[in-house]
Amino acid sequence: MKYSSEYQEEYILTSGEIIELRLVRPEDKPAFVSGLELCSPLTIYNRFMGAKPRFSESDLKYLTEADPADHVAIVGFRESDLVAVGRAIRYARRPDAADFGLIVADCCQRQGIGAFLLKRLAEALTERDIRYMCGEMFSTNSAMFRVVDDMPYITDWVLDGSVASFEIDLSSPKLG
Ligand SMILES: CC(C)(COP(=O)(O)OP(=O)(O)OC[C@H]1O[C@@H](n2cnc3c(N)ncnc32)[C@H](O)[C@@H]1OP(=O)(O)O)[C@@H](O)C(=O)NCCC(=O)NCCS
Repeated sequence: MKYSSEYQEEYILTSGEIIELRLVRPEDKPAFVSGLELCSPLTIYNRFMGAKPRFSESDLKYLTEADPADHVAIVGFRESDLVAVGRAIRYARRPDAADFGLIVADCCQRQGIGAFLLKRLAEALTERDIRYMCGEMFSTNSAMFRVVDDMPYITDWVLDGSVASFEIDLSSPKLG
C-alpha cells in the first residue's frame, strides 16, 4: 500500500517552497495547534463550516491518532509549519464512501497544493476500496468548487440553500 506510514513525498509550491507530505502521526498534535494560527478566520470557517477557535485534547487525539485503514489524513509541512491537511474518513454505515475535507493555510493557498492533496487522497481511498468521496461546503466557496470540479471524475452536486454537498465517484472518469 502506497499511502501507509512509509509514504513521504515533496510538493513544490509555485513560490518554490517545499512542502513535505506524509500521513499524520500522533506527535503532530502541537503542529495542529500552531497550524490553526496560520489560518485566517475565513479559511477556518470554510473548512469547519463554523468558527473553530481551538482544538480540544479529544479533537487532537481524533485528528492525529487515526486508524489509517478507515481514516486517512495527509499532512503537509513547510519546515515545521503544518500548512495543509487533507482528510477522509470512511462512513461506518457505508464502507465504500468517505467524508473528506481539505484545508490549506492562507500563506500557501492558490499554489496548487489543495488540488494535489485531493488527488493523493483519492488514490489513498481507492487503495482502501473506497469509491465515493463525499463532502459539504458553503455554496459561496469558489476555491473548493474549483478544486473538486477539476477532478477527473464524475461528481454529483446537491445545492441546498447556502450549503453544497457533493459526491465524487472515483470509479467514473469524466469523458473527454
Ligand atoms: C479550498 C482550498 C483547500 C484550495 O486549496 P489551494 O491550495 O488554495 O487550491 P489550488 O491552488 O490547488 O487551486 C486549485 C484550483 O482552484 C482555484 N482556486 C484556488 N483558490 C481560489 C479562489 N479563492 N477563488 C477561485 N479559484 C480558486 C485555482 O485557481 C486552481 O484552479 P486552476 O487549477 O484552474 O488553476 C483552500 O482554498 C482552503 O483551504 N480553503 C479553506 C478551507 C476550505 O474551504 N475547505 C473546503 C471545505 S472542506
